[in-house]
Amino acid sequence: MQIDIPVLSKRTNGDLETHSTKYKSESKGRNVYIETYGCQMNVNDSEIVAGILQQSGYSITDMIEKSDVILLNTCSVRDNAEVKIEKRLQHLRHYRKKKSKLVVGILGCMAERLRGQLIGKQDLVSIVVGPDEYRKVPQLIDQAIGGEMGIAVKLSKVETYDDIIPLRTEGVSSWLSIMRGCDKFCTYCVVPYTRGRERSKPFTSVIKEVVQLYEQGFKEVTLLGQNVNSYSDIESKVDFAKLLEECAKAVPEMRIRYTTSHPYDMTNELIETMANYKNICNYIHLPVQSGSDRILQLMNRHYSVEHYIERMNKIKELIPNCATSTDIISGFPTETEEDHKQTLELMEIVRYDGAYMFNYSPRSKTKAYMMDDDVSDDTKKRRLNEIIELQNKIAAEINRNEHGLIHEVLVEGPSKKNQNEWQGRSDTNKVVIFDNSDGLIKTGDVVKCKINNSTSATLFGSIV
Ligand code: 5AD
Ligand code: SF4
Repeated sequence: MQIDIPVLSKRTNGDLETHSTKYKSESKGRNVYIETYGCQMNVNDSEIVAGILQQSGYSITDMIEKSDVILLNTCSVRDNAEVKIEKRLQHLRHYRKKKSKLVVGILGCMAERLRGQLIGKQDLVSIVVGPDEYRKVPQLIDQAIGGEMGIAVKLSKVETYDDIIPLRTEGVSSWLSIMRGCDKFCTYCVVPYTRGRERSKPFTSVIKEVVQLYEQGFKEVTLLGQNVNSYSDIESKVDFAKLLEECAKAVPEMRIRYTTSHPYDMTNELIETMANYKNICNYIHLPVQSGSDRILQLMNRHYSVEHYIERMNKIKELIPNCATSTDIISGFPTETEEDHKQTLELMEIVRYDGAYMFNYSPRSKTKAYMMDDDVSDDTKKRRLNEIIELQNKIAAEINRNEHGLIHEVLVEGPSKKNQNEWQGRSDTNKVVIFDNSDGLIKTGDVVKCKINNSTSATLFGSIV
């Protein structure tokens, strides 16, 4: 498990990747190193924290050895996310040995969930800050330097950090949170308890920020929210479909993506808007969680399998080349072999380009936590493996069908394996690898790539 060497921000969906923070800062203040775990919302939240800190005179560094303050922005969605942080804290003790005044803080969902229990953890943690209290981070660090422990974990009904300018990682893609919190209360999910009630950023602020991102040179923006398509600006009454349309019009040269959607809020207007604007990417992440109506009801998902398939059909009808992905949970309480089979059947019907697949993890406070976690670990694991195997097979078949097709690829940079091979992303959110040994192609270019080969996860092409 690689937790001590953060890598560049990756697109994940609540999965346990780490993200580095390559911020540039001229400030001469103390150095703060931020390490981000979990979803893209957390990546953008770390940028918000970095923005707040820089305004208060702190410098943001990507070199942990040079830092005076280490902040871990954490995830609580599954137990293994928290285990990972515990291990990371153990490892950080070694930095404390070298620097006795080192300040360590826990931010994000785990801070909100475990609160005071984290203070003093591993004889290290002196700051604990929940997702709605990031404005207090500079003050809490100041106090911690003076030897005081601090906790700020109040949830807010209004905080959207609307006036904060996030300090973004350089690159081609940017994240923009347009709403925070979640009111859906899926019975397995801790997010409504760690991120609080749903609230949306004002429409005018979102448009202003999108334009600023374009002017700063970003080529792509992903609009973020735990439940992004239930966006609703109280003042202007703008809903998500309208917001997306106005963003598409405001920055026609920029690619626009969004995540994560809830099937319940996947309206015809939203699908039509996607179909109508070329710069809105042909990719939808629509978590299904299970293919069994009985389980969906127990999960409080507010839709049936029939409704979900009808929405997917509408997407394919209006946007024929739209790629799709999903989230699936294996082994929710009471899940039978029959329920599991229905999930596999749904996957065969929808044929997702990608999926994030998880074992059910009981989270305290949630409704499902009251239920008996009665699917054994072995059965959960076996079912999850079947789901992963089927998904890999389907994705490989879909990608094989793309051989000979030409994709417009937004270039991200050299691939990890080979400096001569570069990578970018198709409009449909697939990683495309191509040869750039002559170095003619630059990060941020949009190139046409003919697909020659593929795996279940990657397309290989050549520039045309
Ligand atoms: N156990 C397993 N997976 C979960 N998710 C959310 N809560 C849990 C849990 N308790 C998954 C869902 C969600 C994704 C972000 O994480 O699939 O869509
Ligand atoms: Fe969690 Fe459900 Fe809200 Fe997603 S929609 S954040 S799974 S409660």
